Parts: sequence; structure tokens; C-alpha cells
Amino acid sequence: MTSAWRPRPELWALDPAVLHLNHGSWGAVPRAALDAAASLRAESEANPAAWFRSLPSRVAAARRELARWVGADEDGFALVPNVSAGVTVALSAVDVPAGGRIVVTSHCYGAVRFAAERFARLRGATVVEVPVPLTASADEVVELVSPAIEGADVVLLDQITSATATVFPVSSLVALCRAAGVPVIVDGAHAPGLVASPAAVGADFWTGNFHKWACAPRGTAGLVVAPEWRSRTLPPVVSWAEHAAALPDRFDWQATADYVPWLAAPASLAVLDTLAWPALLPDLVSMLDDGAAVVAAALRTSVPVLAAPAPAMRLVALPPSVRIEDKAAEEALRGRIARDARAEVNVTVHEGRGFLRLSAHAYNGARDYELLAARLPALL
Ligand SMILES: Cc1ncc(COP(=O)(O)O)c(C=O)c1O
Repeated sequence: MTSAWRPRPELWALDPAVLHLNHGSWGAVPRAALDAAASLRAESEANPAAWFRSLPSRVAAARRELARWVGADEDGFALVPNVSAGVTVALSAVDVPAGGRIVVTSHCYGAVRFAAERFARLRGATVVEVPVPLTASADEVVELVSPAIEGADVVLLDQITSATATVFPVSSLVALCRAAGVPVIVDGAHAPGLVASPAAVGADFWTGNFHKWACAPRGTAGLVVAPEWRSRTLPPVVSWAEHAAALPDRFDWQATADYVPWLAAPASLAVLDTLAWPALLPDLVSMLDDGAAVVAAALRTSVPVLAAPAPAMRLVALPPSVRIEDKAAEEALRGRIARDARAEVNVTVHEGRGFLRLSAHAYNGARDYELLAARLPALL
């Protein structure tokens, strides 16, 4: 095991009796941001009317800070509650005619694919899925997706894939889409915190979660819209800001809602700064690589060799005897591991093969993976 890594679990409020190895699904909010959110919530309840009056300038300030953090043009960066909302907004803005094509890859996040299917249904269009093998190189991904760009009405790409924990070559793919005049939406759900300047890929639409790797309170995501789309891109909820001229202002007010997560999100970014994130990533990744290998050895399986693994997530193959036929089986296995191994992990499937997806954040240490390795063989 690497010795350079020093975990900082004391900065989080996570239950120490549980192995928390699924940061990628829901994130985890550090104590300092929980405190900031609690204090904002107390303020809002002390005088709701004053709270809502104070929101416009405070939301705008938080939004600008989040925009800068992901390298986005502040005039094109809007707040949304999550990437699912961001994708829904983007798909609502693009023209897909009857008979048109919405292109996705076989790594597309399930719920985002549902969004593509809903819009295809509404418009009499079809979703075209490009199969991309698990271990495809960047060049192979580009080669496989390129032919589908011609004739597409919109292309939906993952920046970091969910089930397969892979970094996709989005810059090259976005450039191809732009050259072909085909609008491209980038699902950057995992990118803030894991990719440098993730919003700067030049897509027509980019959306990313701050409540994953940036550890913001849940309900905090960004949508970056290229200049030519800004006037026609409308918020997920129709409310008083509907006719605001500037895109970010239109999204700042989403009716009576909980704005605390957006205002507390900068406190999470401050924690990452004190941890020297992202400079610490190489040591974290090396610890995760070792940990994933220990788990794979215990299961007598392997860590698939991916061309571009996501920095802080690793797949470990499940033994062939473990059959994951459907979503319910995925959920059942997650639940069994949570109950019997006291471990939170993700279970994913790609091309019919089942994997554990193990995450690492600043609170994880080598011991987490060693304990998982010790507990899993008895129950798989
Ligand atoms: C690649 C990808 N896209 C979209 C989402 C959806 O994120 P949210 O539930 O925050 O909308 C996720 C969530 O894990 C994801 O991994």
C-alpha cells in the first residue's frame, strides 16, 4: 500500500461503522459545508420574508463562484438542481424534427437515456445508440462515434461515464460535432472536481454536478450554454424569472424552493481548497488503485484495464457466478453488501458483465478497501 496518502475522515460526518466507497453516486458533504448550510437554514427560518428578499444577490454571487470553479463563461453558466435537470433543459432547447436522431453511446447514464427517449417520443424521433466497448481507446471511441454524428440532430455524450467509470474524449468529439453543425450536449455529472476546467470543452450545452466530487450539498449543479443557445434556453420550472433577458438570471429564481444548497456550495469548495484538491489526486488515485487490486484479488477477479479510467473510481469485476440480470438485481446486491459487509459500493453492468464500482475521496484510506476485501468473499 502507498504511504503517501493520508485520509481526512474527520472533515466529514460519515458514520465510521460503514465503509463509504460509493462517493460517485451521491457525494458526501463535509462538516464545514453542513455547518454553513445549517446556519443558512436557521437564518431562513428566523425570517422567511427577509431570506427570500436577500436571495437574488446571494444566489448570483454563489453562481459566479461555481462558474469560475469549473472554468465556465459566467454569462453562460446557470444553476440547476442536478444534471438530470440540465440534460432535460438542453434537450428541450434543441430542434429535433420528426424522424430525427438523438445519438447516445452505450455508456450513457440510464436516467439520461430515459430523457433522450422521452424527447424522441415527443418529437417522433429515434434514439440511436453507438456501442462502445469497455476498453476502447480514445481514438477508438472517436472512430466509433464519428459516423453517427453525420445525420444526427443532437449528440449526447458523457464526460466521465457512470457504469464504466471511464473518461471519454469529449473535446475531440465536441470538435467533430461543432464542425458538422450538430448540437452536442455533454453530461459532465462526474466532471467538477475530477477534470480540470470541465466546462470549457466548448459544447453547445454542458452540465455537471457539484454535489458529487466537489462535495456540495445535494441539489447543486451547473448548466453551461453556448452563446447561440442562450436566448432560447429556459429553466426547468416556469416562474417569475421566465422573461429575464440574461440566461443565468432566468435560472436563479426557480420558484419557492430550497436555495440553501446553492449558497452553501462555496463552503464545500473551500474545504477542497484546504485539502489542496486537485493536487492530492495522484496520491488518492494510487491508494485507490492499490485498494481495487486488493479487492479484486480477494474475489479472484480483476480490475479491467481501461484506456482512461476515471481518476477516483475503479471497476472490480464481479465473479462470473454473480449474475446481475436487471436493475432490481443490481439494487439487491448493493443492499446485501451494505447489510452484510457494512459497505456502500456501487454495482454496475456493462455488456452483460457485472462490476463493483469503488470510489475514493479524501475521507477514504487503504484500510477501507482491505476491510471490504476481507468481508466480500463470504457473501459473493
Ligand atoms: C453520468 C451521470 N449522468 C447523470 C447522472 C444524474 O445525476 P443527478 O441524479 O444528480 O441528476 C449521474 C448520477 O450518478 C451520472 O453518473
